[in-house]
Amino acid sequence: MGRPLRDLRISVTDRCNLRCPYCMPREVFGADYQFIDRSELLTFEEITRVARIISAQGVRKIRLTGGEPLLRAGLERLVEMLAGIDGIDDIALTTNGTALAPLASSLADAGLDRVTVSLDALEEEVFRSMSDTRGPLARVLEGIDAAREAGLAPVKINMVVRRGVNDHCVVSMAEHFRGRAEVLRFIEYMDVGESNGWRLEQVVPAGEILAAIEQRWPLEALAASHEGEVASRWAYCDGLGEIGVIHSVTQPFCQGCVRARLSAEGRLYTCLFARRGHDLRALLRGGGNDSQIASRINQIWTARADRYSELRSLRQPPEAGDPGVDGAAASAQAARQAAGRVEMSYIGG
Ligand code: GTP
Ligand code: 5AD
Ligand code: SF4
Ligand code: SF4
Repeated sequence: MGRPLRDLRISVTDRCNLRCPYCMPREVFGADYQFIDRSELLTFEEITRVARIISAQGVRKIRLTGGEPLLRAGLERLVEMLAGIDGIDDIALTTNGTALAPLASSLADAGLDRVTVSLDALEEEVFRSMSDTRGPLARVLEGIDAAREAGLAPVKINMVVRRGVNDHCVVSMAEHFRGRAEVLRFIEYMDVGESNGWRLEQVVPAGEILAAIEQRWPLEALAASHEGEVASRWAYCDGLGEIGVIHSVTQPFCQGCVRARLSAEGRLYTCLFARRGHDLRALLRGGGNDSQIASRINQIWTARADRYSELRSLRQPPEAGDPGVDGAAASAQAARQAAGRVEMSYIGG
């Protein structure tokens, strides 16, 4: 499909201190859940080695993810190591923000360029139902302020929108971030993994989100700011900033998919919805040299044919609220369970 390899998303842990039901439902990710054992995690040196090798194949952007990446102790050291790689010109982090405030300036000093903070609501009750956690909303807001002050800008805010849970907050979130330095992005709820019980009717289409905002504040389309950008950008016509929408369900963007994903235990995935990753750790720990690792990565990338979101929309035209959605969702769910897809908290989004 002629898609170049440009971005690497690196998951540094599969653990998280929140339990967003759309990502890590408590019933599945409970006290007895087997997270990746510490000895199985790639070390910072191993991650940096993969990043250096892959940068020679055209990767320009690195994003650190989790679970919650700030739970990995000493992450600043990894940032510093990655920042020293020739050819990498953008290092970003996607975090839930709860531990960001005390770390923002040391991450910036280490060479982090940007952060994206997941924040699904500004009201305590709604925040709690989206994260299944009580309390940390104020800390997340402090984290956003600290990141901005540390120059990790523009801070992007990711809001996953779920019908009947936080969709009534779309306009108030837009109102809060309008005129501020942050860029708010609305994400269509996706059917990642096996455990979130996703149903198409819980998805609020990007078109509906944009229409709700446009009714209050006219918008105009902006061009993508980089190759393979997943968000469509919109500016407020009155000059008070921009928003983004990530419409992977209603308008898939597989044609421009330039991202590879490295799991915390060293498996390389070419799609967020993949069933299986390719083990690089065995090569890293088994004495593979750089050119063997490079040719393995190249082989994996050139063989990829993934376009999951496109295929999903061919199977079931994504019109949330469509009659027949129940049946389609049920069969999609059965297919997913048979397939054994990787979880969001493992692959890092
Ligand atoms: P920048 O463009 O660098 O700001 O980052 P990003 O938007 O790619 O990263 P972020 O971690 O904020 O991801 C935003 C949302 O897009 C998350 O819900 C991701 O899971 C989703 N996303 C990112 N890449 C892909 C992709 O390749 N396919 C799909 N289906 N979703 C993606
Ligand atoms: N659908 C859409 N976005 C999701 N995220 C986590 N799970 C889902 C899902 N099922 C978001 C997180 C984070 C980003 C990496 O992905 O909120 O902002
Ligand atoms: Fe944690 Fe982010 Fe998943 Fe929520 S979406 S459980 S904050 S990794
Ligand atoms: Fe890329 Fe897979 Fe997302 Fe399509 S669904 S954009 S192939 S990661």
